[in-house]
This record gives sequence, C-alpha cells and structure tokens, in this order.
Amino acid sequence: MKIVSVVGARPQFIKAAAVSRVLRAKPGLQEILVHTGQHYDENMSDIFFRQLDIPQPDYNLEVGSGSHAYQTGMMLKGIEDVLLKEKPDHTLVYGDTNSTVAGALAATKLHIPVAHVEAGLRSFNRLMPEEINRIVTDRISDILFAPTLTAINNLKNEGLEKNTVFSGDVMYDSVLFYREMVVSGGKKYMTAGLPASYFLATIHRAENTDNPENLRNIFLAFSQIGQAVVLPVHPRTARLLKTEVSIPANVIIIDPVGYLEMLWLTMNAEKVLTDSGGLQKEAYFLGRQCITVRTETEWVETLHDNWNIVTGQDPDKILEAVRSAKPQASQRQDFGTGSSAGIIAETLLRLR
Ligand code: UD1
Ligand code: UDP
Repeated sequence: MKIVSVVGARPQFIKAAAVSRVLRAKPGLQEILVHTGQHYDENMSDIFFRQLDIPQPDYNLEVGSGSHAYQTGMMLKGIEDVLLKEKPDHTLVYGDTNSTVAGALAATKLHIPVAHVEAGLRSFNRLMPEEINRIVTDRISDILFAPTLTAINNLKNEGLEKNTVFSGDVMYDSVLFYREMVVSGGKKYMTAGLPASYFLATIHRAENTDNPENLRNIFLAFSQIGQAVVLPVHPRTARLLKTEVSIPANVIIIDPVGYLEMLWLTMNAEKVLTDSGGLQKEAYFLGRQCITVRTETEWVETLHDNWNIVTGQDPDKILEAVRSAKPQASQRQDFGTGSSAGIIAETLLRLR
C-alpha cells in the first residue's frame, strides 16, 4: 500500500513525526512525503526533520510564501504532478493550513481517497482562513480522523459521521514520545540566557498580526505582567514587531526554536500565553495553565478548571487571567491515549 503524506507548515511536521514513525514500521506500507514548502526557514522547517527524525521529503515543491490563492494554487499544481506520478492508494493531510486543503483537493479530483488527520475542529469563525480550510477538507475527505469527541460531534452535525474515526490527538502522541527525551536531556534543550522564571508566549494568528490594535493590546498586557515574557517569534510576527509595536522591556524576543526546546520552555514556564492551536494543547498536556489570546478556541476540552482561559485581546482580561489561581484539578484523558498514530495506520491498512 502506498500513501502520499502532504505537509508544509511547522505544526504539520510535529504531527507527521508521530504518524510517519508508525506508518514506516508497518510491513507492506510505503509512505511518500511531500513538503509543499509553505514554511522554509531553517528554524521553521529543517530543524523539525532533523530533531524529530522525520525522513527527508521525497518531494519539496518549494512553493514559499504568498497570498492564499497563489499559495494554494501553486501547491495544487505541484501536488497533482506528484500524485499522477506516484498513484498512491491514499493521500494523508494534516490540520488546517493551505497545504492541507491543497493536498485534499488535488487528491480528490484524481479520485484518490483522502484521509484527514485532525478532522472536525471548528471555531465557527469563518474569518479565520483555517476554518475555511477545515470545512472544505472535511467535506471532501474520505476518512476523518477526529482527535476529540467535540470534533466527532461537529462532523456529525455536518452529516459526516459515516467517514469519522476517533483517533485521539497525534500531538498528544508527540508530547508523550518526546517529553521523555527532554526530561532525560537535563539542560540539553534549555535555551541559554533566559531568566529562571518567565511566562512563555507565541503570537502568529492573522486575527492578531493583521490587526495592529489587537497586536498592541496584547503587548500592552505583556508589559504589565511584572515578569519576563519569553516570545519565540514567528516570522510573520517578526516583520510586524519592527513597525507596529514597541517591545516592552520585560519581553524577551527569541528566534523560533526547535520542538524539543519548545517542550522545555513550556514545561518550565509560569504560564503560557498564545494564539497557537498546538501550544494550547501542549500547555495542557504538560500541566501549564494557558491564556488564549483569541476570541474562541477549537480545543474546548482544555477549558475545564481554568486550564485554558480564552481572553480575546483585551489587556484587562489577559492580566486577570495571568493573575488567576493556577488549576488544582488534574487534566482529563480527552485526547486519546497517545496511540493515535497506531489507530490511523491500522485503519488505513484495513481499507487496503
Ligand atoms: C500558517 C497556517 C496557520 C498555522 C501556521 C503555523 C495557513 C492559512 N495558515 O500560518 O494555520 O497556524 O502556519 O505556524 O496555512 N514566513 C517566513 N518564513 C517561513 C514561513 C513564513 O518568513 O519559513 C513569513 C512570510 O512572510 C509569510 C508569513 O510568514 O508571508 C506567513 O506565512 P504563511 O505560511 O503564509 O502563514 P502562517 O502565518 O505561517
Ligand atoms: N513550536 C516550536 N517552536 C517555536 C514555536 C512553536 O516548535 O518556536 C511548536 C509548538 O510547540 C507546537 C507547534 O509548533 O508543537 C505549533 O505550531 P504553530 O503555533 O506555528 O501553529 P498552530 O498550532 O497554531 O497551527
């Protein structure tokens, strides 16, 4: 059986690391990896392949940055060429980026079954490009691997339950697998030169970066936290920091880091402030309270007992959440058992 997996953006490398490892251990299963080139900086792409031992892509389409239409269109064409040549039994796509929707659309038009990992997530906010990508991808996919029961329900509400499989969350697989490496590595994955006590922040979503007022409000809140805020900066945000905000003295901007360094930073943070989907979950898995500077979250399972507080961009709400008590209750097992990749591989093999 041959599977073409399509990845392109940072969180997809982390998801694919878990799944590729299991797929490639299955006898009779061949995986061809396509990198669209959506992310291409060393520390947004290559570092993950190296660090997480992901096989080098068989194809790199080198699409790079551009408008949604440009990027998706170029990917469609490149992925179609690969699919025509490789003739796989399935195409595997991850998450909700432009690389996801391009992979799904190219494959389904060639009548190649599409499997979507992290299906069924909904913010119910169609202003988010990711929401459009998710809706389209789920609608045209043949197998929907849902990470949570909320995702299953969302798919059911859209009449898609027939194709749905509860897999659990592959990012949970990755955290469980790599956490041991980070813990046993001692200081190996510690980023040098940072204070012992800090809040960890990441900001990159369009609703925050493309809206200068939101960006300024978030940094205003950061400036009043009264402790260091370490911010590994996404290149999209880095460009704007030069023009749209003045960086408060307590905010330490660092380059994007590798996944293992990021796990270390998360495990050792006071709290996490973010608009990232992946980091909200990692904070939860690693027992760190998260403050989500968006108006909604798809990961509603993280909200119980104030493990994740959704504040929007209002500085007062952000600061209130920063000062709130840390959760006392334990996290729940809502994201599967850490064996999602195995469920995905077994399901695909059964469909052979
Ligand atoms: C994309 C995804 C988003 C995901 C994020 C993960 C879409 C629509 N969005 O957003 O869902 O959360 O990836 O990080 O697919 N850039 C660089 N170097 C790089 C990559 C990007 O400089 O290696 C800069 C470019 O200026 C580019 C901008 O970042 O225009 C945005 O990159 P893009 O891939 O279009 O979207 P992200 O914001 O990364
Ligand atoms: N991440 C990383 N280095 C960084 C910032 C984030 O390895 O400097 C990881 C983070 O731990 C998580 C993933 O990238 O696993 C999340 O990706 P991102 O926030 O870019 O996208 P999203 O999850 O919002 O789609």
